[in-house]
Amino acid sequence: MAQIIDGKAISAQIKEELKEEVSSLKSRGIQPGLAVIIVGSDPASRIYVNLKKKDCEELGILSKEYALPKETTEEELLGLIGELNADPSINGILVQLPVPEQIDENKIIAAISPEKDVDAFHAANVGKIMIGSYSFLPCTPAGCMELIASTGVDITGKNCVVVGRSNIVGKPMAMLLLHKHGTVTIAHSKTKNLKEVCAAADILVAAVGVPKLIKGDMIKPGAVVIDVGTTKMPDGKLCGDVDFEEASKTASFITPVPGGVGPMTRVILMKNTVTAAKLQNKVKI
Ligand code: GUN
Repeated sequence: MAQIIDGKAISAQIKEELKEEVSSLKSRGIQPGLAVIIVGSDPASRIYVNLKKKDCEELGILSKEYALPKETTEEELLGLIGELNADPSINGILVQLPVPEQIDENKIIAAISPEKDVDAFHAANVGKIMIGSYSFLPCTPAGCMELIASTGVDITGKNCVVVGRSNIVGKPMAMLLLHKHGTVTIAHSKTKNLKEVCAAADILVAAVGVPKLIKGDMIKPGAVVIDVGTTKMPDGKLCGDVDFEEASKTASFITPVPGGVGPMTRVILMKNTVTAAKLQNKVKI
């Protein structure tokens, strides 16, 4: 049976370290500040934003929420981002995605100052990740890397398979595994032999949003399995991309859903906000 990777416990430890860091910054007159913008009233987005605010409160990070109506125009949102870019009390700006269809998501991401882009979605930050020289890492992939590190399994030379090619998770995840010298394959919805590709993975990261797509016979014995999927099922429960029951019989380490990747994504956002505050205040990192 696989060992469960406890994202809650690992994130709690990072939180404790961040709490101390925030308190030391405060004693120097610096309070990290995060602006969270939510447009419209998508229930899942509302839950995520509330959790982010709660994390900030817990750590002593200033959080400002901007809840805008769903009819907000692109110009209005760009105007707010311009103001926050110029506001010295705000070190990080996060626009909760998705945004309503009248707003071009790419334009919004491009408007956020790269120094305040704590999601690491801006092309300048994506480019920095590509060349391996970065200040912020995207929250979910960085959280997954921490979870893999917690197993003690060395990525060097291992077959790493990332299922999913999103800009938020799949693509940057592949790059981070590559930086750690993994042999990386990105599989996606058009991949013909998904079962064989996955079954060759020493480290498997599933990030497609299809409940239980990854079955037990797609897991290599002893593999490390990281499940990024969080689909809300009709019974209200969250379901991952991996069939946990089956996969945990074959894997050596596996993340649960919930309690695996989710808490890590949140804590990396806090870490990025603290890093942004340090960089903007010229504190050594
Ligand atoms: N929506 C879903 N995941 C994310 C995320 O990591 N950042 C932002 N800004 N929006 C999201």
